[in-house]
Amino acid sequence: MTNSGPDPVSATKVAVIGAGPAGLIVANLLRKAGVDCVVVERHTRAYVEQRPRAGMIEHRVVEMLRRHGLADRLDQMADAHTSCEFRIDGRRHEIDYSALYGGRRHYVYPQQELVTDLVAAFLGTGGDLRFQAEGVRLHDLDTERPSVTYTDAATGRAARIDCDFVAGCDGFHGVSRASVPAGALTEYSHHHGINWLSVLAAAPPSTRSVIYAIHPDGFAGHMLRSSTVSRFYLQCPVGDSVDNWPDERVWAELRKRLALRDERWTLTEGPITEKRMLDMRSFVVEPMGHGRLHLAGDAAHVITPVGGKGMNLALHDGERLAEALAAHYAGSDALLGAYSETCLRRVWRCQEFSRWMTEMLHAPAGEGGAFQRRLAVARLEHILSSPVAAAAFAEDYLGQD
Ligand code: APR
Repeated sequence: MTNSGPDPVSATKVAVIGAGPAGLIVANLLRKAGVDCVVVERHTRAYVEQRPRAGMIEHRVVEMLRRHGLADRLDQMADAHTSCEFRIDGRRHEIDYSALYGGRRHYVYPQQELVTDLVAAFLGTGGDLRFQAEGVRLHDLDTERPSVTYTDAATGRAARIDCDFVAGCDGFHGVSRASVPAGALTEYSHHHGINWLSVLAAAPPSTRSVIYAIHPDGFAGHMLRSSTVSRFYLQCPVGDSVDNWPDERVWAELRKRLALRDERWTLTEGPITEKRMLDMRSFVVEPMGHGRLHLAGDAAHVITPVGGKGMNLALHDGERLAEALAAHYAGSDALLGAYSETCLRRVWRCQEFSRWMTEMLHAPAGEGGAFQRRLAVARLEHILSSPVAAAAFAEDYLGQD
């Protein structure tokens, strides 16, 4: 890209919309397979490289990144995790999930670090990635030669990319899914009736493994991000607002819900750098594409953060889509024909697991939730006491091969 911006009209094989985990994995793998592509991203490079989101990467996904030479920095910086902890009635219960599923591990590596690596890898091999692409529009998706138009916000110039395929990787609110004619896709959505206050704090972790706490006042979670940053979640009523959660209340509620009864345990506090209210919802669209447009990641499905599957699904879709498009140019359309079905099988498995875990961790606070809280305890005790149930949990939690 020069200072005057990209050529007003260019041609490529695949136009990738969005430089999140899904789009960047598609772009990197296509490039490695020798398939020309151009990525258009609405935001600046600095913005996508700093936006904090998910942070837990499955073993299988890390192995895929390694196979493609995309995990060097991850291998230096990420922490590998083998267990998680549940807290209930002030007692801790650890599950060594790694031992239950062939020694596989989770890697804690913030999404923005992975995005930074994938941007660098793509640009480092001469990839064409256009940031600040405003007003992206998709055209002629039902033909063999679709195109993408946008305005380069840095120069104000309009541009067009002619292509064979569009990879719609622009997240839930992106333009790709919205460009499909009405009625061509079936949407499944579900509101879980729970809000989470999501908090990012410049506080070293107070735990070696992720903590899920079931408490009469609601769920609390302590997630890991780095040696200096932690993420916390607090269950809140639907309709609650960040304005109701000054920092002191956040820490007081975390201290209470994460407290241990018979052990000394201290929650390390620090400046809160981000507070967001998440409405816990799930969404899936079928099929994951239309004509020459194929959707990947949040553009096609949204999952609650429970179980840490969103980024892993986005990377799985991206890998499958790149593989299918490369096969197309090698003369076979079998993978492309099966792309949506292959991805949706994993998507629905993860949705079911995430919902199951949501039910285990949450009940309405107070009297009204007493029955559900007993069911949650029964479910957790089942995992803790039955090796078969524990192994099934470990397989889902770590991600099926
Ligand atoms: N034009 C161009 N780019 C767009 C547009 C648009 N109209 N709309 C969105 N984008 C960009 C966003 O700026 C973002 O960089 O598309 C990218 C989509 O990235 P993500 O939202 O991270 O989605 P995805 O790659 O599917 O990754 C899913 O992200 O939402 C988290 O927890 C979720 O971990 C999961 C992961």
